[in-house]
Amino acid sequence: MAEISAAMRERMAMYNGNALQLGLFGANCSSGRSATTVPERWTASWPDCLKLARMADAAGMDFMLPIGRWKGYGGTSDFHGATLETVTWAASLLAATRRITVFGTVHAPLFNPIIAAKEFVTADHVGAGRFGLNIVCGWNDGEFEMFGVQQREHEARYEYAQEWIDAVKSAWSEPGDFSVDGKYLKLKNVRAFPKPYGGTRPLIMNAGASAVGQAFALRNCDAFFTATASSRRSIEENAKRVAEIKQDARALGREIEVYTVGQMTCRPTRQAAEDYYNHAIIEHADWDAVERMLALKDITRANHSPAEYEAQRRYFAGHAIGGYPFIGTPDQIAGELANLSQAGVRGIAFSFVNYLAEFPYFRDEVLPRLERLGVRQPVIQRAEAGE
Ligand SMILES: Cc1cc2nc3c(=O)[nH]c(=O)nc-3n(C[C@H](O)[C@H](O)[C@H](O)COP(=O)(O)O)c2cc1C
Repeated sequence: MAEISAAMRERMAMYNGNALQLGLFGANCSSGRSATTVPERWTASWPDCLKLARMADAAGMDFMLPIGRWKGYGGTSDFHGATLETVTWAASLLAATRRITVFGTVHAPLFNPIIAAKEFVTADHVGAGRFGLNIVCGWNDGEFEMFGVQQREHEARYEYAQEWIDAVKSAWSEPGDFSVDGKYLKLKNVRAFPKPYGGTRPLIMNAGASAVGQAFALRNCDAFFTATASSRRSIEENAKRVAEIKQDARALGREIEVYTVGQMTCRPTRQAAEDYYNHAIIEHADWDAVERMLALKDITRANHSPAEYEAQRRYFAGHAIGGYPFIGTPDQIAGELANLSQAGVRGIAFSFVNYLAEFPYFRDEVLPRLERLGVRQPVIQRAEAGE
């Protein structure tokens, strides 16, 4: 097993002792992770993102994970029609915060790796070691068209991404000039300084769902995001899934942490939470946008029966975009999150319909419960620890 340095462990722990890491997902995109037409939907304006990051930082949240999205999906709400570029977003938020880790989400095939490596290093220095990298290979042909880049077939995407991340890691670590003579990348006499902050490197995550995507994550990343470990399953089922992933990583001599994704609707009563979820996510779903997304994944009325198509539409609006829906009271949601932690899930990235409006209730009601359940440390304790 490759030795992990103390500094890298600190990064992986996001510089705190929380057993369950919590992050906000998708705040750089209009509508966040909710294809809804409700007027309070997220706009992803810069002032709102900044306010949210500062609020999350002060509350002791661990990370913010943006979505790398280049082309909106259209529909009534123009879902993801306005998106802030993630590395510049991360660097700017890192300059405005003290503790929180902020990821950049980068499409490997669209960024020159040496420019990308330097952007990441710059953000990492701005944040004094709090930048993280989410590598994505892409799946949406319309986005690639915009760049005049041909999307590779699935396996080759990850083959390319391997060369790309190796080049980025070399730029982060090689003490002198280096060259790359790969199948895809030919880079000569590369010189890249400074290195990332603190003699280590940014945390790297990936969320490949296929076998090839998962294998890429296990070989290269510190964190693997999977929707298949979720609150939908029992603690035992999740524990088994997490153990399998970790075991597969160990077989490659690596350690990896398993994360999942979700969407929060937390209200004082179960009924109020269900009512809002039904109102915003189902009754006011942007069905046009949902159908456009389904079409991009080749799920259409033409190739599915009416019942199957309806089930897909409903599932996609209710689950697949935002991740597993956590709907309930603070006690119920804290309990579900603690169960994930008990199953070995290291953290979760989640969204709200309107992050700024809904996060304060989560902060005030769910975070203290998670502390009492022993899966998170009180923020005050961290402050006393000299942070
Ligand atoms: C937590 C999470 C974050 C993701 N972020 C993005 C993203 O920002 N941009 C993107 O194009 N795809 C994103 N994806 C999609 C994955 O990178 C990946 O393409 C998808 O899961 C399909 O897996 P595969 O490439 O192994 O087929 C994300 C998936 C998850 C679960």
